[in-house]
Order: sequence, then C-alpha cells, then structure tokens
Amino acid sequence: MNREDFNLLNSDIIYFDNGATTLKPKILIDSLTDYYNNYSANAHRGDYDISLKVDAMYENTRELVRKFINAKKKDQIVFTNNTTDSINKAVFGYFKNYLKKGDEVLITASEHASNILPWFELEDMIGIKVKYIKLDSNHKVTMDNVKSAITPNTKVISIAHVTNVVGDIRPIDKIVKYAHSKGIKVLVDGAQSVPHRKIDVTDIDMDFLAFSAHKMCGPTGVGVLYVKEDLMDEVKPIIFGGGMNSYFEFDGKREYKALPYNLEAGTPNIAGVIAFGSVLNYLSKIGITNIEEKEKELKDYCIKRLKEIDNIIIYNEECDSGIITFNMKDIFSQDLAIYLNKYNICVRAGNHCAKILKGELGIKNTCRISFYFYNTKEEIDKLIEALKNPNIINEVI
Ligand SMILES: Cc1ncc(COP(=O)(O)O)c(C=O)c1O
Repeated sequence: MNREDFNLLNSDIIYFDNGATTLKPKILIDSLTDYYNNYSANAHRGDYDISLKVDAMYENTRELVRKFINAKKKDQIVFTNNTTDSINKAVFGYFKNYLKKGDEVLITASEHASNILPWFELEDMIGIKVKYIKLDSNHKVTMDNVKSAITPNTKVISIAHVTNVVGDIRPIDKIVKYAHSKGIKVLVDGAQSVPHRKIDVTDIDMDFLAFSAHKMCGPTGVGVLYVKEDLMDEVKPIIFGGGMNSYFEFDGKREYKALPYNLEAGTPNIAGVIAFGSVLNYLSKIGITNIEEKEKELKDYCIKRLKEIDNIIIYNEECDSGIITFNMKDIFSQDLAIYLNKYNICVRAGNHCAKILKGELGIKNTCRISFYFYNTKEEIDKLIEALKNPNIINEVI
C-alpha cells in the first residue's frame, strides 16, 4: 500500500521496525522543504504575511489532530516533543499537584520507560505509591486484573493502549469507564495505538492521551498531549519562557496563557508541526481502518510463516496488533538482528525500553517485528527465507 510514497522503499531495505519510528513519505519532506524555503518565520509572534501564514498552518495542524482523535476543541491539543515529553507534562504539570502522599498509581510491567520513570520520580518527590496491574498468561491486561489491583487509594491508572513489546491491545474504553466510576483518572500512552487504529477520545472519555508524530509517518520532535476539557485549567506549565505568558512585570507579577499555549513555551518545532498536518491528511486519505486491517493481515501471515521454522519461539501470538516478538533457539536476539541486517532486513532487538517485562516473558531480550501499511507479504517471505537458512547458526556472529 502506497509504497511509491516512500523514498527508502526504492532501495532493497525491508523495514520492520515501525514501532521504533516509521518511514517518512514524500509529502512530509515536501511540506518541511516548503516551510524552510518559502515562509520560514516564527510562530505566534509576527504581524507580517509569512508569519501570519505560519500561525495559520500551525493552528491548522492542531485542528487536524483534533479531528484525527475526535477531541471536542482544538485547544485540548498540546504540541510537545514526543510521547515521553507529553507524559512528563501530564505527570509533573497535573498529577504532581493533584496527587498526595499515599495515593496509588497503577501501571503494568510492560509499560515503556516513558510511562514508568516519571511515576517513579513522582513517588520519590511526593510519596505516591506506584503499583502494578497483573498481566495474564498471554501478557494481557484483563478487566478482572484491573479491578483487583484497585484499592481505595488508587487515584490514577497510567497505561499504554498498545504495548511496544508484545503489542497487546488493552480494553481502554472499559478501563476508562470503570476507573471513572471509582473516581480514578486515566492517562493513556497512545504511542503504539494512535498510528494504527481509530481512537475517539471523546467517546472513550479519556483524561489524557500521549503520542508521537514520528511513529505515524510524521517528523521527529513532534508529539501530542490531549487533555480532557474539564482538566484544561488544572494542567500547569513545567517549562517557562516566551510564548506561554500573557505578561510579566519587573516585580515578578505575571500571568500565563491558557492551554495549550501555556505548555508550549519557546519556539516550537514549527516545520515539524506544519508537516505533521500534511501527514495527517495523508493518513486520513489512506484510512486508519485500512491501516489496521492491513497490519492484521500481515501479522497473521507472518505468524503462519514463522511457524514453519522449528526453532522459532513466538511470545505474543495471541496479540492483535502488528507487532511480533520472537527469538530463535540458541541465538541471542541481537545476533539474530545483526544477521538479518546482512539481508537488509531491519528488526529491533533488545528489551525495547520495557525492562521490567523480562520477569513476565521469562526472557530479557527478544527480536521485534512491527509492521506499517507499506509492508508486504513478499517482504515477509524474504524474512522467512533468511531465517530458514540451514547454515544460520554459523552465519550469526
Ligand atoms: C508504548 C510507547 N510509549 C512511549 C514511547 C516513547 O516514544 P517517544 O520516544 O516518541 O517519546 C514509545 C516508543 O517506542 C512506545 O513504544
């Protein structure tokens, strides 16, 4: 699907590391070049034509993000640097003030470092307690396990919609509904879900959603934090400077703007945000449901073909996203990734920034394949051919 839009796909590279970051379509590069060549002024500062154009384009992307996730208002969309930055802004800009000593925050062992370390820091700062929702034998989150992890002190559930290691899809709508019935707020890490499936923040009634543009054909250095309407006044800036204040005086009197501008201090990634707008139009044309279906088809095909190989261990056959986590018996995952690189096949090896999942998987390192809509069954066939090499043990370093 749409392979002609990606320059890298003109080479013989087989790119199966879309969970880390996706390839970049021509429309992104054209949009970046157009900004730098033709109207490279700052945002929200000038009174002349090219600066006004920047403002309009920048705010247009905010509107496109609003539509993409069906937020009510475009001011609920904060531009950040990435998912990590978005989660940090929610944790230290909102939850640090909202929570008090003894309050409990529920996460899982398969969260990405970005959805664990900020909470550990807050634990040290104000004495909250980070606790875990148990995973089932397929490494999934069940509603029963969510319910049994909740205590009267639980105030937050902070959870990935889709995890980056096993790719399990969490029942986020049910989790939010149940959490809200108990007065619990939910922060959703959408880094691995927003690029791949339809998310409706209003329908789900999400409190916070974080995601990155670079995992959905967008530029690096652009992320989004969505904030529920009735929390907008409560999210405070953690970075201070130009662009986020209404005024300040010699004696320290000052007033900050409202969301989203109070969280966007300093010159933002203007080119990136504008180009992300072009990418959102591009993805909408392809259709997010088509993307989801294509990935599912690729995943099912790949699992079927991987099973032809005796020595393959698949860790997440039961998970529905386009992520496959596997190892080959007696071969260290990184050695396997380096071996596949000889065939120009890019897979990720290691612990995938989810270091505490090793206890659940029973293994520290795995290889990960993560698909996007431009991958093909022919590429999978080449992977299988490389893995079936009878001499593989001697060829890995
Ligand atoms: C589930 C999940 N959360 C958060 C992140 C962090 O994203 P970023 O590096 O764009 O901040 C990733 C990146 O792989 C991820 O997979």
